[in-house]
Amino acid sequence: MATPVVDAEYVKEIEKTRRDLRALISGKNCAPIMLRLAWHDAGTYDAKTKTGGPNGSIRNRKELSHSANNGLQIAVDLCEKVKAKHPKITYADLYQLAGVVAVEVTGGPSIDFVPGRKDSKQSPEEGRLPDAKQGASHLREIFYRMGLSDKDIVVLSGGHTLGSAHKERSGFDGPWTKDPLKFDNSYFVELLKGDTEGLLKLPTDKVLVGDLKFRPYVERYAKDEDAFFEDYAVSHKKLSELGFTPRTAKKSSRLKSAQCAVGVLAAVSVAIVVAILLKGPYTRE
Ligand code: HEM
Repeated sequence: MATPVVDAEYVKEIEKTRRDLRALISGKNCAPIMLRLAWHDAGTYDAKTKTGGPNGSIRNRKELSHSANNGLQIAVDLCEKVKAKHPKITYADLYQLAGVVAVEVTGGPSIDFVPGRKDSKQSPEEGRLPDAKQGASHLREIFYRMGLSDKDIVVLSGGHTLGSAHKERSGFDGPWTKDPLKFDNSYFVELLKGDTEGLLKLPTDKVLVGDLKFRPYVERYAKDEDAFFEDYAVSHKKLSELGFTPRTAKKSSRLKSAQCAVGVLAAVSVAIVVAILLKGPYTRE
């Protein structure tokens, strides 16, 4: 599919889609699965081959049947209702916008959203998403492949402040926090507390406390929710834009430089005219 043209009409449609997503997500309490959908569409990115990433390919039957994506048909179907109302918006934009809205409506930080992602019918091979039963080196292998860092790994794992695992989907069971519909820093607070009855910690959550480079971020975010929100918004935007260069951003920065140059030129011209007027008629004594 061709890259969408992000003109005023497309941007207006994005804003309408955002409103519909807000209503849907708060009405159905489906923020967690929407965030997981956005992350699993984006998290297949391979920076070397520039394949995978937030391109809507998770809706393909083949990719949805990857075992990491068990249960995500529910989120794809919910998004289909919004897509039917806004057919112009690409699936890639729709899923990432759903992720951004999911975080916002549950009390998390505002995440900058730039539209214009292209859809792809091509699905990556199975195995690009992390395996919850593995350790720190596996997490690094997966996230470094996307071009992300240790800090991104820890702060994005904070997405587990929302939702629960479901035995029939992943084999794991239960929520990470006491209020799984509230986006806050309690995931990190619980991680530092250790095992608590009724709350889940995946092996990949536990390594964030055990690893010397990951742990300082866990401590920081457990202590300071503002720091978590600030860093989360940056890393989430990065995740949602893997392999995507916003065209409007380039255009608008070019436009801004042109406007700046015109502004400087106008100011200099005004200064010259004022100087001439103040000096009065040029007469030679
Ligand atoms: C670091 C590696 C990660 C691993 C190994 C992992 C693994 C898992 C697993 C096994 C589940 C349970 C699925 C189920 O049974 O329904 C889950 C759920 C979830 N994950 Fe992750 N995840 C990771 C990172 C992330 C990231 C980066 C985000 C978002 C930024 C995220 C957001 C979620 C959410 C919101 C749920 C709950 C879904 C629901 O309630 O339906 N995860 N994850």
